[in-house]
Amino acid sequence: MAKRIDVKDLNLFYGKFHAVDGVSLAVPPRNVTAFIGPSGCGKSTVLRSLNRMHEVIPGARAEGKVLLDGEDIYASTVDPVSVRRTIGMVFQRPNPFPTMSIKDNVVAGLRLAGERDKKKLEEVAERALRGANLWAEVKDRLNRPGGGLSGGQQQRLCIARAIAVRPDVLLMDEPCSALDPISTLAIEDLIQELKKDFTIVIVTHNMQQAARVSDQTAFFNLAGVGQPGRLVELDDTEKIFSNPTQKATEDYISGRFG
Ligand SMILES: Nc1ncnc2c1ncn2[C@@H]1O[C@H](COP(=O)(O)OP(=O)(O)OP(=O)(O)O)[C@@H](O)[C@H]1O
Ligand SMILES: [Mg+2]
Repeated sequence: MAKRIDVKDLNLFYGKFHAVDGVSLAVPPRNVTAFIGPSGCGKSTVLRSLNRMHEVIPGARAEGKVLLDGEDIYASTVDPVSVRRTIGMVFQRPNPFPTMSIKDNVVAGLRLAGERDKKKLEEVAERALRGANLWAEVKDRLNRPGGGLSGGQQQRLCIARAIAVRPDVLLMDEPCSALDPISTLAIEDLIQELKKDFTIVIVTHNMQQAARVSDQTAFFNLAGVGQPGRLVELDDTEKIFSNPTQKATEDYISGRFG
């Protein structure tokens, strides 16, 4: 199996608190991996460590290896900013720059990277908005503020902003949890489309969503309060939801939990 992301014995800390213990997992290219598990088991923490956003939190640190196409993103020679460009992130709450125009929101990352060619920026904005399935809804108001869009549109705007810089991997932390069912389905359809070009890791509390959108599912759990989170099982989504190997996984997905 070709591995786009390969995590080896990853331990994650917040100061003295050992939040995640010994996670190893691999993600193939053009694949959707879902992270599921109870609140506090470390899903967001692991996700943020995949593009070095974890260490931005004061006192937070990572031990272990995260390989992207065989290169350790934690190697001392690697620039975390370039890692975050290659591995983009979409958050739980849509966070467009509210007063910035829709178009400028999409190309904010490119501008930051020094791109000034107006025509190029317009092309990228259109391509990314089409890619995020938002173009038809906003093409006549590209210069209006991003904050004026609906929640679902704002989330697709954030996805457009993330894909505008052409990352290899897209990390999504509960991207639909603030959205209505229609917008949620729109994002799920979009994930299926994006999978053709990107490798996606998505955290979700919605089992149906994990079952619908992902190819493989990772179940995380924790033994108790104050204990570190662990990866219990990673397997094909179909297998996890029909015949998981671990009893804890079975209990969790069938709702017999805690
Ligand atoms: N910034 C932080 N500082 C200190 N501890 C943190 C921080 N963020 C998370 N933690 C702790 O790390 C552990 C894992 O948290 P994390 O947010 O990764 O869980 P999660 O699985 O994403 O939960 P949820 O489903 O509620 O989003 C928890 O015990 C949490 O309290
Ligand atoms: Mg979380």
